[in-house]
Amino acid sequence: MTRVKVLFVCLGNICRSPLAEAIFKHKIRGNGLHNYVEADSCGTSNYHIGDTPDERTLANALKNGIAIHHRGRQLSVSDLEEFDFIVAMDSSNYRNIFRLPGAEQHQHKIFLMRNFDATDNHTEVPDPYYGGERGFQEVFDILDRATDGFIARLQQQLADRL
Ligand code: 4NP
Repeated sequence: MTRVKVLFVCLGNICRSPLAEAIFKHKIRGNGLHNYVEADSCGTSNYHIGDTPDERTLANALKNGIAIHHRGRQLSVSDLEEFDFIVAMDSSNYRNIFRLPGAEQHQHKIFLMRNFDATDNHTEVPDPYYGGERGFQEVFDILDRATDGFIARLQQQLADRL
């Protein structure tokens, strides 16, 4: 069985999406799903290509028991073909994904991260870049919930395939 490929997308690929990727990978290693699913992250902008994640994101993640290993990269047209789930952190990222040529054809695999967070009706993982530490913890808590919901959905999908 080919592995399901998941791509988390934000603007800079130094705060939200590398954290989403790291939390997701931590959880799927913990429950064995890593044999069936793999993950990566990227940004819609070219602002931080090759950069390590934001120091505040790294510190907050470690405080919550998560190590992040990632270098920034920009979303490309080939990602639309390659990945099975393309998960945007906010509606601006979502719209940016649809700016890529041919994105409409892949609409069925493009999601908002908070679609998987059933606790409320919010649509955005807020951009913490210009805020304080509280914003980073808020992002962590949202991603912790949304990755749980997303993993439950993947488990259901994989069970249906077997
Ligand atoms: P991210 O946060 O999209 O969660 O990685 C940002 C990082 C950098 C910038 C904006 C948002 N920036 O403008 O450089």
